[in-house]
Amino acid sequence: MKVLKINGGKTLSGTVRISGSKNASVALIPAAILADDEVTICNVPEITDTDALTEILKYLGADVKRASESILIDPKPIVNKEIPEEMSNKLRASYYFMAVLLAKFKHVEMYFPGGCAIGARPIDQTLKGFEALGAKIKEENNKYTIDADELTGSHVYLDMPSVGATINTMLVAVKAKGETIIENAAKEPEIVNVATFLNNMGAKITGAGTSEIRIKGVESLKGCYTEVIPDRIESGTYIIAGALMGNYLKIDNIIPEHVETLILKLKEMGVDMEVGADYIYVSKKDRMKPVHIKTLGYPGFPTDLQQPITTLLTQCDGESVLQETVYENRFKNVPYLNSMGANISQKQDTIMIKGKTKLHGKTVEATDLRAGACLVLAGLVADGTTTIRNIGPVLRGYENIIEKLNEIGADVKIVEEE
Ligand code: EPU
Repeated sequence: MKVLKINGGKTLSGTVRISGSKNASVALIPAAILADDEVTICNVPEITDTDALTEILKYLGADVKRASESILIDPKPIVNKEIPEEMSNKLRASYYFMAVLLAKFKHVEMYFPGGCAIGARPIDQTLKGFEALGAKIKEENNKYTIDADELTGSHVYLDMPSVGATINTMLVAVKAKGETIIENAAKEPEIVNVATFLNNMGAKITGAGTSEIRIKGVESLKGCYTEVIPDRIESGTYIIAGALMGNYLKIDNIIPEHVETLILKLKEMGVDMEVGADYIYVSKKDRMKPVHIKTLGYPGFPTDLQQPITTLLTQCDGESVLQETVYENRFKNVPYLNSMGANISQKQDTIMIKGKTKLHGKTVEATDLRAGACLVLAGLVADGTTTIRNIGPVLRGYENIIEKLNEIGADVKIVEEE
């Protein structure tokens, strides 16, 4: 088994360049199918999640080329066939193929998607969107068969502002007849990135980034070029690393507005930062104030930074309170942090973190992607060696994490261990 070894306590300085967004790329890659000609997507991170999606594209017959940070996708040879369960259950985002195959062929057969085990993660809102646009859905043994004689624009109200359901509904509505209005839409920057891509193809989407998105369906979509936005969760993770161990650490190629709630919380703690147009300098502060954080959809505090910031809260002087409102099961990192010396207790959806506590290197496990990121951060600040088992989930979401950390002064390596 591959494990990650971190010798902690090293000062982090220099520059770390942030890659393209995972959660935008994983929607843009399937969306390419909607075009009638070749599309180019720039700044796509090389992570196992984007690899898994390009495998699905190739399986369906698309011509896919990787040229450094870009992916060129020619969807013309695509055929509509069932995606094997072992391909779709590798990641959550495989269900964007449900939407694009439905939009393109009016028929799709696919299994329930995979993804980190951080809660039940039902897909009812996506299915509600499909049905509102005229699709008929059958489910048997985890497999969905979705058909539509015709896809027609409609008024869709999402019960919660789900990122996936907003994107899926948008992906079908661009090819439906007439106008679709998505109300209570999610407002995440990744949704704006997808809408821009589709508009570059010739779609007619307005309002992405607000809670009401309007889509006028079009007959055909053309080939185009688009660029993936910087990953705001990777940005946040390295900003937190800087607050833990940084000496004027520069986090470059970011959109500061996309990490504003994090920056505001760090300011409340008293962390030293200098925010520029597309970068931020962060340095470690010996004394930090505890804070209260509640996770929310964008522009609220992102649930994907909840686990990473927990490590930082163990270093604040006093009790911090962290409430997770998006997922029911996103505290699997806590027992491991406690085994390293943290003092964290949980009451329902809230954890109380008493600091400041010294952290010590231990053997821990990355139960999911962001839990893994939290433990990498803990390893950076801990004394001694931290061994993180089951490192796969971390590699799904952070491009070149080992190289990037070592370049700024950390001592991290992947080794093969029993
Ligand atoms: N929900 C439902 N029904 C639905 C859809 C969602 O009940 O039909 C619930 C979910 O169970 C969850 C909440 O609504 O409690 C939010 O889910 P959402 O649909 O917004 O999340 P997602 O689209 O499945 C994406 C990211 C997640 C990120 C969330 C929230 C991708 C591939 N995943 O998931 O990223 O946490 O939005 O911002 O874009 C990660 O990167 O570590 C990650 C988990």
